[in-house]
Amino acid sequence: MIDTPRSIPDATHATTGAAPLTPSSSMSIEIDYAYMFDGATRGAISDEAWSTAPRHFANARAVFRRQRESDLLGFIDLAAENVPGLNLLHRFVEGIGGGFDDLVVLGIGGSALGNIALRSALRSPRWNEWDDQRRAGKPRMHVLENIDPTSMYELLDRINIERTLFIVISKSGGTAETMAQYLIVRERLENALGDRHHNHLVFITDPGKGALRALALAEGTVTFDIPANVGGRFSVLSPAGLFPLAAIGVDIRALLAGAREMITRCESDDLSKNPAGTFALLQWLADTQLGCHNHIMMPYSDPLREFSAWWVQLWAESLGKVRPDGTSVGPTPIPALGVTDQHSQVQLFMEGPRDKTVTFINVKKTPVDIAIPKLHEAVTELAYLGGHTLKELLDVERRATAAALAQRGKPSMTIHLDQVDAQHVGGLIMMLEYATIYAGALYGIDPLDQPGVELGKKFTYAQLNRPDTEAARGEWAALAKPEPRLV
Ligand code: PA5
Repeated sequence: MIDTPRSIPDATHATTGAAPLTPSSSMSIEIDYAYMFDGATRGAISDEAWSTAPRHFANARAVFRRQRESDLLGFIDLAAENVPGLNLLHRFVEGIGGGFDDLVVLGIGGSALGNIALRSALRSPRWNEWDDQRRAGKPRMHVLENIDPTSMYELLDRINIERTLFIVISKSGGTAETMAQYLIVRERLENALGDRHHNHLVFITDPGKGALRALALAEGTVTFDIPANVGGRFSVLSPAGLFPLAAIGVDIRALLAGAREMITRCESDDLSKNPAGTFALLQWLADTQLGCHNHIMMPYSDPLREFSAWWVQLWAESLGKVRPDGTSVGPTPIPALGVTDQHSQVQLFMEGPRDKTVTFINVKKTPVDIAIPKLHEAVTELAYLGGHTLKELLDVERRATAAALAQRGKPSMTIHLDQVDAQHVGGLIMMLEYATIYAGALYGIDPLDQPGVELGKKFTYAQLNRPDTEAARGEWAALAKPEPRLV
């Protein structure tokens, strides 16, 4: 059950042992936001400011409804019961394990980050190892999200192309980086496999537009759709994420079930029952009223490390915008990892300017825990650790960090997840996607576009002499180019 208590929960009891967790029968995701308030954190959000929140939320819900009625929020439909095409997708990926050792995703931004996040969260790292014994019949998954030639060279050098499936993911179907990767791969496939190269390519793209779609139609390439009304950073629950993840054995039905369950909660008009609305309102108030312009996401969980990177893109690309009145808005999302960053960024969070909120993620149950043995009992610096477990230490340190931040007047909240499984991760994804849409309405911007990246793209095309960019070439030529000031 989800609700948004303002109480701080007691310590959870860690257990030892190595039994894998069973999938949860129900989803438990709660946000504890007590430390966002002045009562617990001096100078944080006042009760008076919070009393305006339901009114702001009602306005955000009205904007949301208009967007929904205009069919702009297709990411919600991705989690509908009986999504069309899901059985087909399942049937297709079932055969992949036997035929391919490696899957290589070519994609960037929203076409890569969800896959990276979910692979880390839902597949044990050892499943991706080169050691075949450990893969349990599933292919390894690699995501080539950047065009640094070193990474591409190393991967292509290592895989056996005859046992590799390349999944080209691009909503627009024409992103320069992904297309460059595709061209390189295509040539290698043709050289190695001749006509059989088609069996090693899958496209995932817009149903009606773009170069990739046109190629697919011309050549009969196996292609799955990203619905027209789903943008890149909201596409992880479309085939862009479902296809590769299903192929490596992630339970995508549970992922969608978790997301679906969360929709009901995030549709509530009652802010006190709506976790996405609460998250968005708190972050927006902290940004616009307290000057907390930096929003940190800090899971105390290695499997969720990459999840922060997915959220960073969602929050940054959706909310960093120029409003219709010409003012620039947008919080800066920052990824962090507990406890690792306690020995890195946390010094800044504690003593640096009060311009941040921290969102901790606590995972209540881990698949295993490890007891810390009672050794060296005469050594004060070691003896107190013995008899506890690593999970206990993780929890204790998270609570200590949140309390210490509060004492320094730095607001934080904690998302408590029962466990990291497909259902909970699906729920978390949907909650943060809804929160992004609500935050967009609060900031008064369109969270679904990304006009700020277009100019850089135009100048790239201009330098590469793309034929349809004559105007951009003129603009590029006329641009003042300062002499380098080298030291
Ligand atoms: O969220 C977005 O829309 C972007 O980050 C895109 O995902 C990214 O630019 C890649 O675009 P495409 O999927 O069209 O190749």
